[in-house]
Amino acid sequence: MMRKNSRIFSTEDARRQAKRRLPRLIFDFIEGAAGRETGSARNVSQFDNIMLQPRVMADVAQCSLATELMGQSYKVPFGIAPMGMCNLVHPKADTSLADTAKAIGFPVCLSSAASTSIEDMAGMAGSHAWFQLYFGASEEASLAMVDRARVAGYDTLVLTVDVPQVSRRVRDLRNGFTVPFAMTPSAFMDFATHPRWSLSTLAFGAPRPMNFTDSNGVNTFDRGASRSGADWAFLEALRGKWPGKLIVKGVTSATDARRIRSLGADAIYVSNHGGRQLDSVPPAISLLPLIREAVGPDFPLLFDSGIRNGEDIIKALALGADFVMIGRPALFALAAEGAAGLNALLKCFEAEISVVMAQLGVTSISQLGPNVVFDNAAAKGDGLEKTPRAALQLAAKT
Ligand SMILES: Cc1cc2nc3c(=O)[nH]c(=O)nc-3n(C[C@H](O)[C@H](O)[C@H](O)COP(=O)(O)O)c2cc1C
Repeated sequence: MMRKNSRIFSTEDARRQAKRRLPRLIFDFIEGAAGRETGSARNVSQFDNIMLQPRVMADVAQCSLATELMGQSYKVPFGIAPMGMCNLVHPKADTSLADTAKAIGFPVCLSSAASTSIEDMAGMAGSHAWFQLYFGASEEASLAMVDRARVAGYDTLVLTVDVPQVSRRVRDLRNGFTVPFAMTPSAFMDFATHPRWSLSTLAFGAPRPMNFTDSNGVNTFDRGASRSGADWAFLEALRGKWPGKLIVKGVTSATDARRIRSLGADAIYVSNHGGRQLDSVPPAISLLPLIREAVGPDFPLLFDSGIRNGEDIIKALALGADFVMIGRPALFALAAEGAAGLNALLKCFEAEISVVMAQLGVTSISQLGPNVVFDNAAAKGDGLEKTPRAALQLAAKT
């Protein structure tokens, strides 16, 4: 049921409620990251080191959030990042994501490890659904999944390449988190002390990865399996096979980005997986300008890792992204208040983008560039106007 008044005005509000409502095992699965989780924290804190330059007296009565990506128009410059097992946070999470994507007009990326099948998500989200591929048990099995996506009508495929092995996530190891669930005594206690989540999850049936069922109906998903088959040769094979848009996700190196571009990908998705793969990874937002410089001004770039509000989205767009994807905050909002929570949080992001654009004196997303980023070095010199290149280098250093 939709709540009339959401209590969500920020990601932090959603996170606080999610933490109360979810069994710890589930909350930790979402929030947890690799190693000591410093990479994950840096992704977020690095946004605070980037400042924006206000401009005054521009006519900003009408700001448009509409944007284009790979020839497609979107009403807002953001979408939902692929995340496995979303229904763990709320039994209708995937349905809510699909409905909200259609209502607001943005893409939602279904994970290979989703709790909804490729076919069902296509039915629910229509052309708003993208499909994210993890290399599976073999090239044959992976390409079979790609075929399913093509037959189901997807036109955008996202190949994730930053999980050659699932990293050591200490919270999951400590909690004994597995997919599908293993009902250990501590998990039982965790669920018993969160009856609201447990009863609603029971009523809908325990979520499972829905894309890994063999012909006998047996689930064959292995969360710990190596995905290192997603190599350069596989990318070439996939490019030959997939007729639609192909995006490569999990790229943080300018050298890799150039090679991916040369192999015919339609876009690169700059991401460090929210710090879930490598603790010592640099903040994704610091890498974005370097990758923009490597691929040139016109090549489509998507970005995620550390986005927590509309102002962060503006910063990513200004520093080289064409489109921004939202990860953990969407799951926190769904856990907190279901569809109403997701809607409330995304409306906050929309409103923040709009008011920040007004502060910066711009009225369209295409006007966002290094020109809106405060450049301390330039401010000390001959004024605030600077070359885009200088601003990009500054942002990369911070
Ligand atoms: C619970 C969870 C599950 C995820 N599952 C996937 C996945 O199946 N495939 C994928 O490419 N990325 C996956 N990711 C990574 C996200 O797509 C995204 O890169 C990351 O959440 C961005 O970091 P942020 O949430 O801190 O902004 C997952 C992230 C979370 C939090």
